[in-house]
Amino acid sequence: MSAPETGAPGAPPRRRFPEGTTAEDLKAYMGPFVERLGYKFNTDGEFVAMVLEGELEVLATTGDVYCPCRMRTGDPKEDVKIICPCIPFFRDEFAGMRKCWCGLFIRADVEDGAALMGVIAEPEGPIEVPVARVDDMRDGEARRVKVGKTALAVFRVDGEFFALSDVCRHAFAPLSEGWLDGHAVMCPWHGWRYDVRDGTTDHPDADVRTYPVTVRDGEVLVTV
Ligand code: SF4
Ligand code: FES
Repeated sequence: MSAPETGAPGAPPRRRFPEGTTAEDLKAYMGPFVERLGYKFNTDGEFVAMVLEGELEVLATTGDVYCPCRMRTGDPKEDVKIICPCIPFFRDEFAGMRKCWCGLFIRADVEDGAALMGVIAEPEGPIEVPVARVDDMRDGEARRVKVGKTALAVFRVDGEFFALSDVCRHAFAPLSEGWLDGHAVMCPWHGWRYDVRDGTTDHPDADVRTYPVTVRDGEVLVTV
């Protein structure tokens, strides 16, 4: 396919598909991206073709691949969350259902995507949400991940992964932008230190919440 259009010289390419984009182009573009998020195209090829056809119709009228199964609000800040693949904005819902709303994408370990058709409500109780691939994070690295309304800081230390609230209890700085010193993360604003293993800090009543992390099939899953 031809490359997405670019803006001013030197500017990053805009997330927009040119005229003549085909379903195969969309698949080639989206496949590697959703794989990083722990998803794949539905195993029901006919269904995938139908949804992508819908996306191409939306693309032709709007200039981007908004979700064909949801209404746009007209507010660009809101609508940006339903440009396909919208998985990063709905990690918890989709992890619970094991598929995206439309069913175009299913979790990587689901064998029969057709069996999930019609599932629109997430199961109750804790769910494991994929937040990274093991080989995407090096030791000493941190990542901020939004799961629903909750911002998490995910850290890798000595090959192990830890997840805690991304909000420092002092003045709400993002801990994912702090510096690691062993298992301690130093807040980037005023240096409070939190233990990434249990969220504890020296300051009274200021510990942050931690979340269980599981590593499975090369993926980092946080239970929320
Ligand atoms: S619900 Fe599925 S098809 Fe719709 S935008 Fe999200 S990922 Fe794409
Ligand atoms: S905001 Fe974290 S130490 Fe001040």
